[in-house]
Amino acid sequence: MSAPGRACPISYRHGAGVLAGAPLLEADTLWVAGGLYGNAHALERLVQLYDAEPGSKALVFNGDFHWFDVFPEDFALIERGVAPFLATRGNVETELASPAAGAGCGCAYPDWVDDATVERSNRVIERLRATALGFPQALERLAGLPMQLVATVGGERVAVVHGDADSLAGWGFSQEALAAAHGRAAALRAFSAANARIFASSHSCLPVMQEFAGGRVIANNGSAGMPNFRGTSFGLVTRISVRASAGALYGARAAHLFVEAVPLDYDAQAWRQRFLAQWPAGSVAHASYYERICDGPRYRAEQARAA
Ligand SMILES: [Fe+2]
Repeated sequence: MSAPGRACPISYRHGAGVLAGAPLLEADTLWVAGGLYGNAHALERLVQLYDAEPGSKALVFNGDFHWFDVFPEDFALIERGVAPFLATRGNVETELASPAAGAGCGCAYPDWVDDATVERSNRVIERLRATALGFPQALERLAGLPMQLVATVGGERVAVVHGDADSLAGWGFSQEALAAAHGRAAALRAFSAANARIFASSHSCLPVMQEFAGGRVIANNGSAGMPNFRGTSFGLVTRISVRASAGALYGARAAHLFVEAVPLDYDAQAWRQRFLAQWPAGSVAHASYYERICDGPRYRAEQARAA
């Protein structure tokens, strides 16, 4: 039996085969925002940028839009902001709405994440759960969200997942897994099983844009609500479109589509203050995340782009 935060509950395992089904939507442009982590400033900026997008479009929040938002007003703000758009459950929403015994935060952290970080994540979800109990309608909504969805963009199939092709909390689309030949081989099998041109994922919290032979791409946006690279203060979202955007940080081609990482340059100062109000120095989330929120993780944009 794995420790809380290490385990991947059976209910998380959807399998790549479910992604082979009929698409839920069709658009010329699809935005995918994973890992908002309760950052209302990033949400506000995202909606501004998305509103400016022309043509047929959709925005999907692919999980973990809640996390740091333990003040009821912050939790409500995130709920209100996300609800008008499509969303899939992350492990955070799943562990709020239907907690699995012993799952902790549901992160299914791999070996390279240390025990203290895992334990602190379990404490964050406990605190967020206490807040969420005050929002029974939101919990009902979150419980009803799917774990994944399929879209077609410009006629190409895009599988939107939280973790990887098999599991809500899978790490198969993390930079660490895709750096290994067996990880890329597993991803190739997932493309076949899902009959997909593109996977859009999140969960591992560090972005990856991995190209495969035959014009296939895995786009992991890292985090919409936290910095993703050292010395930066913006989040990232994935944009998949028949047209290139002017604002992409980097991108790849998947057949005729443009797959791009778009910066979310939210008000970083205001977000820091909002975070500190909820998670002051000495709190578990402060210990795990404040350095990243201020300075970004020890990760560079060059590391995110693999071919
Ligand atoms: Fe996650």
